[in-house]
Amino acid sequence: LNVDHETLFRPITINQLTLQNRYVQGPMAAHAPQHDGRPSAETFAFFERRARSGVGLVIVGGAYCTQWGWEGASNTRYWIRLDRDDYAADLAKLAETAHRNNVPIFAELNVGDGAVGKPGPDFIAASAVALEIPEAALKAILPVPGGVRKSAPRAATRDEIARLEDETAQSALRVKKAGFDGVELGAQMSYFLASFLSSRTNLRDDEYGGSTENRARIIINIVRKIRGLVGGDYPIGVRMLANEHVEGGQEAAEYAALARLFEAASVDYIALTEGGHEAVDMGATGDASIVRHGEAQVFKQHISIPIMLQGVHDPDLAASIVRAGHADLILLGRPLLVDPDYVNKLRQGKAVDIVRCDKNNECLRRLMVGLSIRCPRNPTFGREATVANRPKQIASHVAEWATLKAVSSPTLMKLASKVVGK
Ligand SMILES: Cc1cc2nc3c(=O)[nH]c(=O)nc-3n(C[C@H](O)[C@H](O)[C@H](O)COP(=O)(O)O)c2cc1C
Ligand code: SF4
Repeated sequence: LNVDHETLFRPITINQLTLQNRYVQGPMAAHAPQHDGRPSAETFAFFERRARSGVGLVIVGGAYCTQWGWEGASNTRYWIRLDRDDYAADLAKLAETAHRNNVPIFAELNVGDGAVGKPGPDFIAASAVALEIPEAALKAILPVPGGVRKSAPRAATRDEIARLEDETAQSALRVKKAGFDGVELGAQMSYFLASFLSSRTNLRDDEYGGSTENRARIIINIVRKIRGLVGGDYPIGVRMLANEHVEGGQEAAEYAALARLFEAASVDYIALTEGGHEAVDMGATGDASIVRHGEAQVFKQHISIPIMLQGVHDPDLAASIVRAGHADLILLGRPLLVDPDYVNKLRQGKAVDIVRCDKNNECLRRLMVGLSIRCPRNPTFGREATVANRPKQIASHVAEWATLKAVSSPTLMKLASKVVGK
């Protein structure tokens, strides 16, 4: 281990759970689930591979925790469902991929798409504010002439909000029972929960809008409801924006004030992201922009629970940020799609061998247009189940060939049946 990186390999405790190091596999809808929202063989292989990556924690992303979230999604292709009891065995199998490798695993609870979702009678967000993504913000991923302008959702009723809070808490209980070690509330991008936090997108005049306390209410209600079901010692995080990065948008001090309320409501860590869908380019830089802009530092002044940072691809930079106390955990998203051995290599002092993400965003481009997610720098990503099974397939072909041709080679047959596992 290079001494400069030693800070990144110090344990840290979240609630009662100790993580062995500061690296976290970030939530990513990049695990190719089945069309009904169950994990697929590829999903299991994706998480198994990342659980062996040397990270201290794995977070399952691309996961809706309410029926409304699933049914109102603009594209369910990349997402699993946490809202169904009959999927519990699949979720337990998912948790097992990490536990087999002695790594804890959390589930991101995404309530639903909000203003990003599918227009229809249940197209709801905090308020009727339409999502507009300027052409310039999309350039880093996919140039769309004129940008994207969606129709306005309708404001959710108080009954609808209360029902979604309850359902989210039930999903937290479900994933806990399935063996997950913690949950993270997804209030990132421009999704449903995020729409409540910003005074630009939350224009409500009831108890869910207006003051900082009111805009924090939906998350605090959910946290209380989750705590009532899972107890005080279960880790709960909140993933939220550090800054909206749009004109007239909400900035770090106000988001940090919300985070302070979340901490008081027993949230165990805050995971920071940059910008919503309107500023989607902000999250793609990978050069620690949340620290460069001073947003992480503002949060540190407001809260004392651990802060997780995204977008820090360089290990030297990550170590200096943690050493300086600007953040406590480093989330790796795209870097682990490219090189699932990133953290192992770093621990072995082989940082030069890490295959780096080019930030060209082929992965996100493919996600935007609905194609299977791939990474040109890692041809096995997205096909990990097949790759893991390849030796077995080859052995089974050899055994079949030998049988058909009546080749009498006990050594060959023995070898093949050993690999096939018969
Ligand atoms: C293909 C892909 C899918 C993603 N899906 C999610 C998701 O479901 N939930 C989420 O909170 N973030 C999601 N993200 C964002 C990542 O967690 C991460 O914050 C982002 O990629 C920036 O970190 P990085 O620079 O390390 O990649 C996704 C990112 C990618 C590349
Ligand atoms: S496709 Fe490009 S941006 Fe995405 S993970 Fe691979 S190298 Fe990084």
